[in-house]
Amino acid sequence: MNEVIRQLHERKSVRIFEDRAVPDDVKNEVIEAAFEAPTAGNMMFYTIIDVTDQQVKDQLAVLCDHQPFIAKAQLVLVFLADYQRWYNTYRAAELDVRKPGVGDLMLACADAVIAAQNSVVAAHSLGLGSCYIGDILENCEQVRALLSLPEFVMPAVMVVYGYPTRQQLDRPKPVRFGRNHIVHENAYRTMEPQELLGMISERGDKETVEQLCKRKYMSDFSLEMNRSVTEYLKNFGER
Ligand SMILES: Cc1cc2nc3c(=O)[nH]c(=O)nc-3n(C[C@H](O)[C@H](O)[C@H](O)COP(=O)(O)O)c2cc1C
Repeated sequence: MNEVIRQLHERKSVRIFEDRAVPDDVKNEVIEAAFEAPTAGNMMFYTIIDVTDQQVKDQLAVLCDHQPFIAKAQLVLVFLADYQRWYNTYRAAELDVRKPGVGDLMLACADAVIAAQNSVVAAHSLGLGSCYIGDILENCEQVRALLSLPEFVMPAVMVVYGYPTRQQLDRPKPVRFGRNHIVHENAYRTMEPQELLGMISERGDKETVEQLCKRKYMSDFSLEMNRSVTEYLKNFGER
């Protein structure tokens, strides 16, 4: 296993950080690694918000399903899918252009997430732990106001970073599902109930499917995320 692959296997989410600042040179390497990610048409359809204001971190911790560790992270980056910059650029060049559509936005989301993952890999290589926060999709009206997001900009993911505590380093990484369930050859293979339920038990999850469903799918945060995104996309669709 080469060093890159070893680190990909080793990386795990970190949610408890040491009270130790991230030096500027480390932060710059993490951010600049994001820029080196593949990006559709080399257009960089994303903007990164570097959240340095503690009050903004505190509010994000509340708005993102009350996760206090967000407020304690030394580095907080919000990766925004950004079609506004290119739309404004086209208009600055006095071109007669359509407004961005949902397809444009989805492409921008892919760009933003890929950039985020580069930053996560870079952070790990520098001894810095990280955790994605998908809940940035919730409470869209308040998050948009807090971050002053224009019309064609949407948060894709937030990532929080910090130096891991010993306990976090020693914590085992969650086990993944077997390759046979995840990689299908040539076409999608719909799984039978027996395989689906077996997949969960093979992994040795402590939670039952019912508990997982309640916690992840039928939960308030999940309903709120869907309300938020649907509401935002409604405006997009009408253009
Ligand atoms: C899109 C996305 C959203 C996530 N959102 C959260 C979150 O809001 N809070 C959290 O504690 N972890 C979050 N995670 C981290 C996952 O829980 C974690 O990646 C998963 O349990 C696998 O563990 P590992 O990263 O340690 O391998 C998120 C991960 C991804 C990729």
